[in-house]
Amino acid sequence: MKANSLAVFNSNDIMPTNADGTMPFRQNNNIFYLSGVDQEESILVLFPDAANEAHKEVLFLKETNEDIAIWEGEKLTKEAAYATSGIKTVYWLQDFEKIFRTMAFEAGVIYLPDNEHLRASNQVETREDRFRDWCKKNYPLHTYERVSPLVNYLRSVKEPEEIELMQNACNITAKAVDRALKFIKPGVMEYEIEAELMHEFLRNRSRGFAYTPIIASGFNACVLHYIENNQECKDGDVILMDIGAEYANYASDLTRSIPVNGKFTDRQKEIYSAVLRVMKSANKILQPGITLANYHKKVGDFMTQELLQLGLISQSDVDKEDPSWPAYKKYFMHGTSHYIGLDVHDVGSWTKPIEEGMVFTIEPGIYIREESLGMRLENDYVVKKGGNIDLMSHIPIEIEEIEAAMNS
Ligand code: GLY
Ligand code: MN
Ligand code: MN
Repeated sequence: MKANSLAVFNSNDIMPTNADGTMPFRQNNNIFYLSGVDQEESILVLFPDAANEAHKEVLFLKETNEDIAIWEGEKLTKEAAYATSGIKTVYWLQDFEKIFRTMAFEAGVIYLPDNEHLRASNQVETREDRFRDWCKKNYPLHTYERVSPLVNYLRSVKEPEEIELMQNACNITAKAVDRALKFIKPGVMEYEIEAELMHEFLRNRSRGFAYTPIIASGFNACVLHYIENNQECKDGDVILMDIGAEYANYASDLTRSIPVNGKFTDRQKEIYSAVLRVMKSANKILQPGITLANYHKKVGDFMTQELLQLGLISQSDVDKEDPSWPAYKKYFMHGTSHYIGLDVHDVGSWTKPIEEGMVFTIEPGIYIREESLGMRLENDYVVKKGGNIDLMSHIPIEIEEIEAAMNS
């Protein structure tokens, strides 16, 4: 941060459904990352150069009272907020405007977040958006700065404590996969598999899926964002499961493509092995120094070789390909890796070199609509020089491992 500047972070709103219904609360990931406060109507102000030592880090929380305790349960007291965040100065929210005024007049520069994510659509006004408008209206002559480049970078390099939480999310996912592999057989419905997974998540203290699960059998696997999960799994089909448990607000993200009847056909094995080889090759080059953009170009080359071998594309397709949509995209039309952390598609740069401690998925796939066959494999990796750490190395992925687990 620049000299004599402060940064302000807000909670997310509790989103309404209809009438007096609400969605489950999901904290804004920036304030959670920086403070551990998992509560609505909270504000964090960071002011490293504050003259008053007590104003270097300040939390503003909704004042808790007996009525709230009876209806909603205990909210954070000032002591509990200190215990969870390490922040000594905690005020009640109703004093925000008065106290913030003294801080803002002392600081020359105000850093504010915006949802700077390449894939975000940002159609709903958030508490952060409202705060930004309020702040600019009340402090029009301050200099404003984007805080996202700073926080996004911090969040992209994971602390050991974060990796531990992510490993736990992956361990819960592992238990659920185990359960699903034993459960799946011809005739089960996709939603029954979803229920088996959820059962294992909840009983292991996850609050559920880290993102809407894809349980797609047969042709459905070729619909990349299939989330209906309402069809019967048929003998001879492959089922693609893109599922992951959340734990402590951190995501895990896994995909397995498995035979409904417990045994791959030769054709299915051929495609599966190609996808698995691309995954392993990608893991070797997802290393410190490469950019995500350049890495994706190289993985595209690996996939091109596999599709040529399989005869799905020809050398002349490759020779005359459009560089902005290479020939391999006909069968592998999505990206291979994304940052993962508090967000399943976590924040981080595509153009700066990858560093140790960043965590990514690797998720190649081949989708052959004309054969009603879609295969994707996905694990989560911590980047480490000389060899990444696979947080899902204990989850069956080799053909023999999958078949053995399904038939045990
Ligand atoms: N499940 C979302 C993804 O794989 O990116
Ligand atoms: Mn996934
Ligand atoms: Mn993913």
